[in-house]
Amino acid sequence: MIRIKVPATSANIGVGFDCMGLAVSLYSSVEFEKSAEKLEITGCPKEFRNSDNLVYQAFVKACRHLDKPVPNVKINIENNIPVARGLGSSAFCIVAGLQGANAWFDSPMDRAELLDLATEMEGHPDNVSPAIYGKLGVSFIDEQKDVQTVHFDVNDQLEFVTLIPDYQVSTEKAREILPSEMSYHEAIYQVGHAVALSKAMELGDLNLIRESIIDKMHEPYRSKLIPDYQKAKDICQQANGTMYISGSGSTMMAIVNSSEDAEQIVANAKKDFPTWEVNHVNVDTNGVMSEVI
Ligand code: HSE
Repeated sequence: MIRIKVPATSANIGVGFDCMGLAVSLYSSVEFEKSAEKLEITGCPKEFRNSDNLVYQAFVKACRHLDKPVPNVKINIENNIPVARGLGSSAFCIVAGLQGANAWFDSPMDRAELLDLATEMEGHPDNVSPAIYGKLGVSFIDEQKDVQTVHFDVNDQLEFVTLIPDYQVSTEKAREILPSEMSYHEAIYQVGHAVALSKAMELGDLNLIRESIIDKMHEPYRSKLIPDYQKAKDICQQANGTMYISGSGSTMMAIVNSSEDAEQIVANAKKDFPTWEVNHVNVDTNGVMSEVI
C-alpha cells in the first residue's frame, strides 16, 4: 500500500497574491492500493466516490504523463483540511493523486515535474508549490510556461493560528470582486512589501512582518466577504499577532512569535467563535511525503 501525506497550505500571505504560499502542520493523507475493481473510493462523502474525484483525476493524469496504463486502484482519503476555506484542500487532492501515481511506478518524477503537472491542474502554483516542497514558496510561470519556484525557511520562532469560520467564501466570487487593473504606484508598493515579507519570515522579525504584510491587491476587497474579519483581526492584534486572509478565505491566519500568544489567540477565538475550528500550527518543512507500506 502507498500512503501519501500532504500539508495544508495558505496562499498569498497578504502581499504575495497568487505567487506566495506557506505549508503548515495540518495534514491530510491518501492511501492507494491494488483493487479487483477499476476504482474504489472510501473515506469521503458519497458524491465524491466516482471517477470525477480530484485525487483520482490527478492519479490518472500522472499515469498518462508517465505513459503507463491506469491501474485498478482503491483510494482511501483521510482529509483534515476543511474544504473551500482557503487552506489548499484542492491542492492536497491534486498533489496526493499525482504523487500516488508517481510512487506506484517507483517515483520517476522529481518535485519540479510534479509541480508543473500540479500547476496545470490547479491553475496557479501558490498552493501546490508549498504542498510539494513545504516551507514558504514563491513561484511564477516563466516565458517557457514552466513553473519557477524558490523556498524560504521560515524562522522557527514564528507560530501560526488558523481561524477557520464555519462558512465558506467562494474563490470565484473572491476573484470576481477584484479590480482588473492597478496603478504603478500600487505595483511598486506591492513588490517592495512582498520581497521584504519573505525576508522578514526568514528572520522571524515580527515587526517587519506586521509592516510588510499589509496588502493592497486583494485583502481590502475580500475582507468584505468575511463578516467577522475585523473581530478576528482584533483578537490577533490583542495577542501581539498579525493576521492575513488565507488564500481567498474564509480562513484567517495569525502570525505570532510565542506559544503563549498563539494559545491566547486560540482561547479568545474559541470563546468568541465557538463554532469555528481554530488550530495552533507550525510551518511544515517537508512538503508531500510518500510511504510504501
Ligand atoms: N491565490 C488564489 C486566490 C488562491 O487568492 O484567489 C485561491 O485558492
